[in-house]
Amino acid sequence: MTLGSGVEHVQLLIPAAGMGQRLGAGRPKALIDLAGQPLLVWTLSRFDALGLADGAVIVGPPESRAEMEQALTAAFSEYRFTWADGGSERQISVCNGLDALRPETEIVVIHDAARPFVPESAIRGSIEAAMEFGAATVAIPSTDTILVGDDDAFLVNTPDRARLWACQTPQTFRVSVIREAHAKASEEDHLGTDDATLVQRTGGRVKLVQGSPLNFKVTTREDLALAEQVIAGGLV
Ligand code: CTP
Ligand code: MG
Repeated sequence: MTLGSGVEHVQLLIPAAGMGQRLGAGRPKALIDLAGQPLLVWTLSRFDALGLADGAVIVGPPESRAEMEQALTAAFSEYRFTWADGGSERQISVCNGLDALRPETEIVVIHDAARPFVPESAIRGSIEAAMEFGAATVAIPSTDTILVGDDDAFLVNTPDRARLWACQTPQTFRVSVIREAHAKASEEDHLGTDDATLVQRTGGRVKLVQGSPLNFKVTTREDLALAEQVIAGGLV
């Protein structure tokens, strides 16, 4: 562990069960090729550099388990991960991943398989803030003015940009905090697109930690082309 003392009970959880509909690949997005390696391998390598990939929970599509485990074994010389079956929504996938954590895990780092260029500073910052406050998410202050539109695409209002952040991952939590937030969301049939919001909506404090524009999520074909350029240009 290269994160310092007192943080041995940190475990990584990677939601990787999405089918990449907006990318249109027709297969799990985590397995698509990025400059010769599956997207998931790029992402896990960022954490491996910090000693955090060992024992990570990989939440993948059940029908792609063999293919994913094979790709990970090839890239990391042996299979050092824990598998969990994904669900129809990201929230369900994460919930299944939480059930698969080691019993001794105190801090869980949840990071999208689709964000391959997360900087070390964001990983460290997210873990440190979660240890101090119980919950943290990486995010970046919005550089764009954000418009709220109505159903017919007419401008409704323009929130003050100074308070707007674009959400990223890792989102890091004390395990008890995130388990309780997921239980409440499921009780109330609430479906969110991230985990930090589940904590906030039940009254928990979530610290915002500075991310990076390079920590973008590969969502569209354009994002994939951009990711190829990031690698070709040596930006990571
Ligand atoms: N994810 C998951 N289980 C799901 C849906 C998403 O584990 N049922 C994961 C994805 O694999 C991804 C992360 O959550 O790493 C962020 O999701 P997103 O970028 O939306 O990926 P997809 O759902 O695959 O893409 P799309 O929404 O375009 O289908
Ligand atoms: Mg999705």
